[in-house]
Amino acid sequence: MATFIKVLGLVLCLALMCEGIESLGCDSDIVINQAKLGIIKGQQVWNATLTNTCACTLLDMKLSIPNFNYVIKINTTIISKSHDDIYDVNGGQPIYSNSGIFFTYVGKSLDVIINDYTEACS
Ligand SMILES: *[C@@H]1O[C@H](CO)[C@@H](O)[C@H](O)[C@H]1NC(C)=O
Ligand SMILES: *[C@@H]1O[C@H](CO)[C@@H](O)[C@H](O)[C@H]1NC(C)=O
Repeated sequence: MATFIKVLGLVLCLALMCEGIESLGCDSDIVINQAKLGIIKGQQVWNATLTNTCACTLLDMKLSIPNFNYVIKINTTIISKSHDDIYDVNGGQPIYSNSGIFFTYVGKSLDVIINDYTEACS
């Protein structure tokens, strides 16, 4: 009996783990980085990168960037306001596996958080 319960527990545990991995999706494979580029007029220039190391293509990528209004944007093609703190990345265009986007800005470093995206897995 004890053995049966142990086996049952193990099976349940594995099932839950698999579910956990599935629901995580690409989250842990989306790498956001911010590198210092230089100083312009006493202000820090940053290069923010988002790299998709997931096997899936990411569509309709949205980021939450609460302090984006307080920096000087250099290229707004890549990041455009959706609503509130939410920004569209690349106009919703696909970010393919093992590729990424970057945008540069001037000011204090941003708080960049993944808000939403759709995975297209082949
Ligand atoms: C920002 O970082 C990316 C990835 O490392 C690089 O490809 C890009 O050239 C950098 N942009 C600038 C303006 O340095
Ligand atoms: C902004 O980024 C887009 C896409 O990478 C590029 O085609 C365009 O030349 C950039 N514009 C500026 C002003 O850097």
